[in-house]
Amino acid sequence: MLQVVEQMRHHLPLKVQERLDRWMETAGIFTGMQNPKVLGSMASSAVRGLVLRSGKHQHQTLMPCSHEALFNWDYGHDHPEMLRLYERAKEAQWNGSNLPWQTSVDPLNPERILVPLDLLDLDYARGLGIILKGDEPMRMVHSMASWLLSQFLHGEQGALMASAQVTEAVPFMDGKYYGATQVMDEARHVEVFYRYLREKAGKMYQINDNLFVIIDALISDSRWDIKFLGMQIMVEGLALGAFGFMYQSTQEPLLKELLKYVIQDEARHVHYGVLALQHHVHNELSEAERAEREDWAFEVALLMRNRFLAYEVYEEWFAGTRVTRANWRDLVTRSPGMHRFRKIMFTRLVPNLREIGLLSERIRPAYVQAGLGLFFNGKSATELSGEQMLRELDQQAI
Ligand SMILES: [Fe+2]
Ligand SMILES: [Fe+2]
Repeated sequence: MLQVVEQMRHHLPLKVQERLDRWMETAGIFTGMQNPKVLGSMASSAVRGLVLRSGKHQHQTLMPCSHEALFNWDYGHDHPEMLRLYERAKEAQWNGSNLPWQTSVDPLNPERILVPLDLLDLDYARGLGIILKGDEPMRMVHSMASWLLSQFLHGEQGALMASAQVTEAVPFMDGKYYGATQVMDEARHVEVFYRYLREKAGKMYQINDNLFVIIDALISDSRWDIKFLGMQIMVEGLALGAFGFMYQSTQEPLLKELLKYVIQDEARHVHYGVLALQHHVHNELSEAERAEREDWAFEVALLMRNRFLAYEVYEEWFAGTRVTRANWRDLVTRSPGMHRFRKIMFTRLVPNLREIGLLSERIRPAYVQAGLGLFFNGKSATELSGEQMLRELDQQAI
């Protein structure tokens, strides 16, 4: 069926082709999911995000929640490692107002780029009929930087809501203490990314549909460990890789400083997620439940790996022109900068899945097939602090 539609596509008007391309991508997500339980738990989020596009074209979105708040009447310390993280988090609080906001930023200045110039390969683009002239290449780089930063901002709002939810739901008292510091951290991250976008980049994009699906799925799932897995391991893990990529490649000093602080907070958040899930996955889940989490994590990884393709930038620049969504997808997938970006996103994520027991021999071939096998032996969050991570990023030239 999909092949027949594919063959007919070129004979249709441009606008219909675009809608069809989106529809086929959505259909591909549903048909590609192997585990029916994972499909069931993500289906309504996928409809809201990909079909209704609920994160777009409106100022507010209501997401349904159904988790339970767990009260702990013992109050005593019950998790020494979480307590240590809580102490570190209290010491490491910082004030976003004190960043050097007086720095003047020109996002079109090629001497102080926000993101690497090869994020999109303009030579390859020419072959696809995308010809940029005059200041358009730098304006395109500006669009891509603003798009990335906007997705960071939307992800941070997701983290703010999710960290409040997991603070309610987590059984450990030390987890609740620690979780409260994370809520504050995430509020600060929303604050600084929004301020940077508004005052410095001067441009903002709506949430990417696939990111919306992931956030909607974990916010509306009633199981606390799925919230932890989705936010603390998947979204935060991917974000940590993405922030590292931008920290390494940007030449804009205010953005670099901002990311330096955010990365140190995020390293703690992912560490917390690993601590909370390690014990739970190994001791409290049945094998079927563990396998379901493993498949859920893989589907989320794929959503980000294959479909985080800056279509919002495409829609702004090329919707309704001869440049098709398929051309754009080809360009983004093949451009060296975006290739490095997608790769680096997973350097932090995959080792953490291993650490919590969600990278068994059963699922490893699927990761290898998705090109993510090279991260199997990387360092997990428990082996790498935020400071060490920054040192490594400073040492590796990009
Ligand atoms: Fe954050
Ligand atoms: Fe975070």
